[in-house]
Amino acid sequence: MRRLVAQTDLAPRHLVLPMFVADGLDEPKPIASMPGVVQHTLDSLRTAAEEAVAAGVGGLMLFGVPRAQDKDALGSGADSADGILNRALAALRADFGDDTVLMADTCLDEFTDHGHCGVVDDQGRVDNDATLSRYQAMAVAQARAGAHMLGPSGMMDGQIAAIRAALDEAGHTDTALLAYTAKYASAFYGPFRDAVDSSLDGDRRTYQQDPANRAEALRELELDLAEGADLVMVKPAMGYLDILADVAAHSPAPVAAYQVSGEYSMISAAAERGWIDRRSAVLESLTSIRRAGASIVLTYWAAEVAGWVSGSAGQ
Ligand code: PBG
Repeated sequence: MRRLVAQTDLAPRHLVLPMFVADGLDEPKPIASMPGVVQHTLDSLRTAAEEAVAAGVGGLMLFGVPRAQDKDALGSGADSADGILNRALAALRADFGDDTVLMADTCLDEFTDHGHCGVVDDQGRVDNDATLSRYQAMAVAQARAGAHMLGPSGMMDGQIAAIRAALDEAGHTDTALLAYTAKYASAFYGPFRDAVDSSLDGDRRTYQQDPANRAEALRELELDLAEGADLVMVKPAMGYLDILADVAAHSPAPVAAYQVSGEYSMISAAAERGWIDRRSAVLESLTSIRRAGASIVLTYWAAEVAGWVSGSAGQ
């Protein structure tokens, strides 16, 4: 009877798996602060992607980790066809064609030697408008490599409009944009910065949102939709369910939420100690995020959970 009347469900297609692919590795490298998550080699990425797609996930979101010596001030590895992320996109698109939605993180932070999401001026401040042309070049390179959908995560003002224009101009009119509409300057990204060998010394509070602010998310939503976002996202997820509910109530576009690295690691660590039941906690966290209004959830558990809920076809 509970199944009959349940309001919220979780199906494999709702879940997107974020994956890390690193240059210069001989074998996958575990990420200490994210037990069970690795930096992949190109080969291990293809195998893990195959498993995730077979489990029925809705899509894959790729992050690239270049070698330290390949990082520079402009993040050149981001838009070079030889960059690790673009090579990985090309490999997965060749493997899967249109069998899954292949997504790419469109942001410079993994590729810059200073670790910021944009280019910086001579005083070390992120230069919003100078960054937009870098995002345009990166986006076109990712679409050319085979990404179906781009996730610009850098929080520069005007990034959706700039990227949309560049994609259209280059003939990539079908490449969709998943806007990071409300992305807060969060301590819960800590393990991710280990995952991508981040060079950041400082914080991102000049371009990410203040956790104290709620109304700002709806202003960002209006801007992203006007600029051409196809989907919108709230990040992190669990501490921001109020924001997610607001965005879901107002957005005519599909809404995603990102259950970030710190959320993953907290549940993993407590479960490892036997303090909470892992499977129940994972399912409850994802159900809460869906209940608050996310049609799509990015989660490092996507492939595993897809296996657990594979009997469910979704709505
Ligand atoms: C920036 C980016 C970050 C995450 C996704 N994209 C880190 C940041 O903004 O510092 C975090 C994801 C996570 O914590 O799981 N390119």
